[in-house]
Amino acid sequence: MAETPHDHPHPVTREAGREARREARREAVAGTDDTPEPLPIPVLRGSTVVLRPHASGDLDAILQRCVDPETVRWTTVPSPYTREMAEEYLTGLGPSPEQISWAIEMDGRYGGTIDLRSFGCDDEHASGNLGFVTHPEIRGRGAMSQAVRLVVDHAFDVLGWQHVTWQANVGNYGSYKAVWRSGFPVPQLVPALMAHRGRMVDGWHSVLERDQPREAVTPWPEAFVVLAEHARSARRPG
Ligand SMILES: CC(C)(COP(=O)(O)OP(=O)(O)OC[C@H]1O[C@@H](n2cnc3c(N)ncnc32)[C@H](O)[C@@H]1OP(=O)(O)O)[C@@H](O)C(=O)NCCC(=O)NCCS
Repeated sequence: MAETPHDHPHPVTREAGREARREARREAVAGTDDTPEPLPIPVLRGSTVVLRPHASGDLDAILQRCVDPETVRWTTVPSPYTREMAEEYLTGLGPSPEQISWAIEMDGRYGGTIDLRSFGCDDEHASGNLGFVTHPEIRGRGAMSQAVRLVVDHAFDVLGWQHVTWQANVGNYGSYKAVWRSGFPVPQLVPALMAHRGRMVDGWHSVLERDQPREAVTPWPEAFVVLAEHARSARRPG
């Protein structure tokens, strides 16, 4: 979930990338005890959702959301997707120095995943990317809007980040609405922002800065007009 927010990276690719980064760090700090610490995954509570570390019991629901057509439509989750892939993906969601992945729990069960991925900048420029997917059974009930708010607060107030970025294929209105509520400005349309299932697509990119209001800044109807024009004019539809 390039590990851009809309993505669900191929688990094998992601694990290979992780191992390469671990190796680079091992080389960089050989002879020192300077290895970056994994970022904690604290429990965060909203009014109807709880964000928590993933657990082995989430496997079946993760598999369901990875084969869901809307997930396939808007993310780069591999398709077809197997149980083995879900197992490997789940294994990679634990604490890491570069990323925090939370399971979103709603009604007492797994309802999606949201993650922050650090860009690895110096402390005073610390920033990262927000990515998420909701399980199809709970979409449209505000789970992701709440989760985004909790995670954005965590990024700025606990991790000390300066920027949180969000990207999506042009046309993914539901994804933008979930971040719009936390103050993300109306996105820019970026030509050929990402590779998606073998082709380049135009994408939306928006950045929230730490001193900006964390509430919707543009009325939704106004934002929607801009988004619809982007979707109409995109040369490489999402
Ligand atoms: C996008 C997604 C994460 C939103 O999760 P969610 O839990 O349903 O989000 P919320 O309920 O908090 O808010 C979604 C809002 O978008 C709206 N929305 C959804 N699709 C829409 C569309 N096509 N046009 C306009 N609004 C739309 C919903 O009505 C809701 O608004 P409301 O709260 O005012 O009713 C979820 O639909 C999903 O997982 N989609 C497939 C994967 C994906 O797109 N991931 C993001 C990649 S960047």
